[in-house]
Amino acid sequence: MTTARTMEIEDKHSIPFFKKIPISIERGEGVYCWDEEGRKYLDFTAGWGVTCLGHAHPVIIEALEKQGRKIVQNPNSGLTYSPARAGLLDLMSTILPSNLTRVFFSNSGAEANDAVIKLARKATGRLDVISTDQSFHGRTISTASATGQAKHREKFNPLMPNYRFVTFGDIKAMKQSLDNSVAAVILEPIQGEGGVQIPPENYLEDVGRLCKENGTLLIVDEVQTGFCRCGTMFAISPLRVEADFLTMAKGIAGGFPFGAFAITEAIAAKVEVGDHGGTYCGNPLGCAVAYNVISYLVKNKIAEHVQEMSALALRTMNEWMKSYPEIIKAVRGKGLLLALEFINEETAAYVTDKCLENMMFVRQTQGNMIRLFPALNIKREEMDEGMGILLNAIKDFSKKTLS
Ligand SMILES: Cc1ncc(COP(=O)(O)O)c(C=O)c1O
Repeated sequence: MTTARTMEIEDKHSIPFFKKIPISIERGEGVYCWDEEGRKYLDFTAGWGVTCLGHAHPVIIEALEKQGRKIVQNPNSGLTYSPARAGLLDLMSTILPSNLTRVFFSNSGAEANDAVIKLARKATGRLDVISTDQSFHGRTISTASATGQAKHREKFNPLMPNYRFVTFGDIKAMKQSLDNSVAAVILEPIQGEGGVQIPPENYLEDVGRLCKENGTLLIVDEVQTGFCRCGTMFAISPLRVEADFLTMAKGIAGGFPFGAFAITEAIAAKVEVGDHGGTYCGNPLGCAVAYNVISYLVKNKIAEHVQEMSALALRTMNEWMKSYPEIIKAVRGKGLLLALEFINEETAAYVTDKCLENMMFVRQTQGNMIRLFPALNIKREEMDEGMGILLNAIKDFSKKTLS
């Protein structure tokens, strides 16, 4: 096919939920991908934080081929046992926080969040859920209800009742809102879609303590931050906070649609056969891919590599902020979840477009920001290449506004 023909068909027959970029991607390798006309691009979005080992990684191909030849979906789905699923559960037990001993596999992040909200209500017998302003937890009706951004909510009102919102990072607001009617607090350790917002030190620990005092369950949404994205296996791994639920997706299977949630033994004791399920949940193909991805992350110490690349990127971006204070308002991030905040939306849009003109994908977020979340195994020279393209776009905007 040609790009023109692909675009014509997609534009005619797909439901127009996306403001499309007129580029048709045919294949990828590592941090690069190629369009149908053979043009090469650098991908600093990793498909929105998903392709954590880059495109077409050999361990993913190996799992798809090997498991694909064995079995993709079990007879009677989750009712029968699977060595691929058992292998992944065993591996997950070595990387999850030690209190989270039971895991269920889903197909996406929203599905995992949806399930844990449901289970938190059942386990506590309470209805209310506290979430935070600017959070993002998914696009199903219950996760949109838990998402603290008007643009994802208002068009669909009335959403689910019994959700309330507090300012992210404000422990006093959380304390005021929390009482013994609250089934669960749902939080991202770092807000991703919200613009890479990092809460003050001890915030999560303090929320965890308040939850315990009120008999409220803590749901930590690591869909975006998990699997070494923030320089540790999970963003909460180094923290002294005990989540009751941890939700995962994106990087878990490096691009294969897959998710998971982990719970404590105490919650597992309160659920029964039939409380949750799903046709594809824990399908052996997804399990095999996730197993290879997670094994690779662990064996190759990708978390340490992420920390090194992160330090480099943050140092460089902070220098840019000093050189271009009239354009760059803030620089922040943890691991390879990074944000450049510009003075306005027009600047972020210009820099995003200029990067694309120079064959690099970045993600404009919350209007005036650019979120960078490349593959976690990105090489130093690839990082330098991306930072070079970004800097040129910033310089270009600066020249344009001065002239
Ligand atoms: C923190 C967080 N939770 C949930 C989701 C929803 O995940 P999915 O798109 O896999 O449903 C996302 C997606 O960006 C996310 O960033």
